[in-house]
Amino acid sequence: MDGFKISSTDEELELIENNAGVFKLLVDDEKLEIIESFVHAGRTILCQPHEAKDAINVYLILTGRLYHINSRKYVEAGSRIEFKNISESQHLSVLEDTKLIMIRTLVKFKEQFRMTNEIYKMIHLIQGKDHYTEDHCNDVGNLASQLAVYLKYDESVVENVLFSGKVHDLGKVEIDEKILLKPSSLDKYEFDSIMKHPQFGYNLLLEKTGDKDLSDILYQHHERMDGSGYPEGLKGDEIRIEAQIIVVVDSYSAMTTDRPYRKAMSHEAAVEELIKGKVTLYNPELVDGFIELMDILRGV
Ligand SMILES: [Fe+2]
Repeated sequence: MDGFKISSTDEELELIENNAGVFKLLVDDEKLEIIESFVHAGRTILCQPHEAKDAINVYLILTGRLYHINSRKYVEAGSRIEFKNISESQHLSVLEDTKLIMIRTLVKFKEQFRMTNEIYKMIHLIQGKDHYTEDHCNDVGNLASQLAVYLKYDESVVENVLFSGKVHDLGKVEIDEKILLKPSSLDKYEFDSIMKHPQFGYNLLLEKTGDKDLSDILYQHHERMDGSGYPEGLKGDEIRIEAQIIVVVDSYSAMTTDRPYRKAMSHEAAVEELIKGKVTLYNPELVDGFIELMDILRGV
């Protein structure tokens, strides 16, 4: 824009509203982007290295409360957060409904939401079939990546669990709905059929993205540390660390979500189950880290 312009603060150039919140693009110039955002409690604000390369990302927190997982620090209303030339993704967990202004010197708004939309399309496919909520799919990806950051895993692990966590049950789109939604226990044929979803997920994701690493994680997301999982019965370190992380978070999220065959468990009961499964089913370091992180995010 040349010259000057006066407009209402209610006037936006583009508006995106999704499960995470409302994002209004207020200024969209070649080198500058200003977004007024409202993000719901329980969601995550993510700043990835490519967004802040040779650029500055500044977040002005107007209301609400956040937790910066990387530095393990709380961020209160009235704070200003700056990211410049970061080499690792930055994860801000939204503890209370938060209003903020994002100022970025790289135009990424549309591209970023286009990418998110591709993930949402896959989540909708799973949701339509298994009646899992979109929240469950997002939670597994977001919590798994937050756990990976909290425990200081490499950036590649963080990025892998963020994406594969959100679409971990993609393979269920190939399974008969009557079996997936059966309210009673499954017979052998039905259980064998469910056990094929990691293989189907591997095939579908490889076809859609060509990414072997991400597809392998989907293939292993039902393996257990003692070899009692499926499809291969892999043990301990034979299981990729990303799959080990997703197993812990997915188990917690599935236990605390209503399913066709049972009601959701309380947080406390689900934590007790995770502790019971330490060593045998789950990596104990991941269970301890997850419980610690959940206490922080739940304000305990
Ligand atoms: Fe699964």
